[in-house]
Amino acid sequence: MSIAVDYADFAVRELRGVSPAYERLALAVSRDDELLARLGTLPPAKRQPNLLFGVVRLLGGPVEDPAAFHDFAVTHWPAVEAEMRVRATQTNEAGRCAVLLPLLAALPQPLALLEVGASAGLCLYPDRYAYRYGDQRLGAGEPVLECTADALVPPTRLPEVVWRAGLDLNPLDVTDTADLAWLDALIWPEHAHRRERLRAAAAVAAAEPPLLVRGDLVDDLPALAAQAPADATLVVFHTSVLYQVPPPRRAAFVDLVRQLPGHWISNEAPDVLAYEGLPEQPGQALHNVLALDGRPLAWARGHGQSMVWFG
Ligand SMILES: C[S@@+](CC[C@H](N)C(=O)[O-])C[C@H]1O[C@@H](n2cnc3c(N)ncnc32)[C@H](O)[C@@H]1O
Repeated sequence: MSIAVDYADFAVRELRGVSPAYERLALAVSRDDELLARLGTLPPAKRQPNLLFGVVRLLGGPVEDPAAFHDFAVTHWPAVEAEMRVRATQTNEAGRCAVLLPLLAALPQPLALLEVGASAGLCLYPDRYAYRYGDQRLGAGEPVLECTADALVPPTRLPEVVWRAGLDLNPLDVTDTADLAWLDALIWPEHAHRRERLRAAAAVAAAEPPLLVRGDLVDDLPALAAQAPADATLVVFHTSVLYQVPPPRRAAFVDLVRQLPGHWISNEAPDVLAYEGLPEQPGQALHNVLALDGRPLAWARGHGQSMVWFG
C-alpha cells in the first residue's frame, strides 16, 4: 500500500469516531504531497501515523489543526525525522488487560506472566486493576478498566499472579520522566481517560516494578521463560506487538512459544496471525483477534474498550 493509502485507511478504520483530531490529520497527510515525500525517505516501519503524530506531540507541535501541523512538521522536519528514526510506537495500554482477564482468570492458578513486547510492562498487572463489564464490577484497585463485552460471561475472580516479567527490544521505565512523556505523547489527543489510566497504571508498576528484560521475543524468550517458577502456570502473552515483527520472525516465535510449557495468549490484528474460519469482524473498526493456545476466541478493540466473544 502507498503511504497515502495507509494514512487514509488508518483514518477510516482506526480513528473515525475515536479521535476526530487524528482523523483530520491522517486524512490531511494522505493528501499532502510534501509530507508524503518526506515520509517516503524513512524506512517503511517508520512511516506510521501514530509515530509521526506522537513525535510532533512530543516536540510540542500542534495536532488539532492540519494546516498548523503541516507547517510545524515541515519547519521542524530534521528534528521530527531524527525522533521518528530512533523511536517506535510503544503505546502501553493497560486497558488491554480487560480483554486478557477472562482467559487469565480461567487458567489454573497461580500464574507466572511473561509478556513479550511489554513496553513499560503495564499489562503485567491484571490482578491489580479493577474492571467493569457492563454492570458487573470486579476488583477494587485503580485504574478501573471498562469493557463492553458481548456474549461473554465476565470473570468473577481476579487471577493470582506470583511472577511477572516482560521482554522488549526497548523496555520503557515508568519512573523515568522522559519515558513517561513518550508514553503520554502516544495517547491520542482527546483521550483524557487514557492519560489518567496511564498515570494510575504507572503508579501501580512504580510501586512494584516488573522484571523487564531488553531482548528479542524469539532469541531471548527461552532464557526468560526458564526463570518462571515451576509451580505456577506459565502464560506467555502479547498484545499489539507482532505487527512490528517481520513475518518470518513471527513464524519462528509461534514455533517457539508452542514448545514452551503452560499457555499462550495472543491479541493481535487479524492479518498478523492466520486463523481458519474466523467469523466476520464486527463493524468497520479495526479489531484484534484474542486467542488462547492458537485458538481464536474473541474480537477485541485495540485499547480493550470492547470485545465480542465467539469461542
Ligand atoms: C505497540 S507496543 C504494545 C505494548 C504492549 N504490549 C501493550 O499492549 O500495551 C509494541 C511493543 O513491542 C515491542 N517489540 C517489537 N518487536 C519486538 C521484538 N522483536 N521483540 C521484543 N519486543 C518487540 C516494541 O518495542 C513495543 O514496546
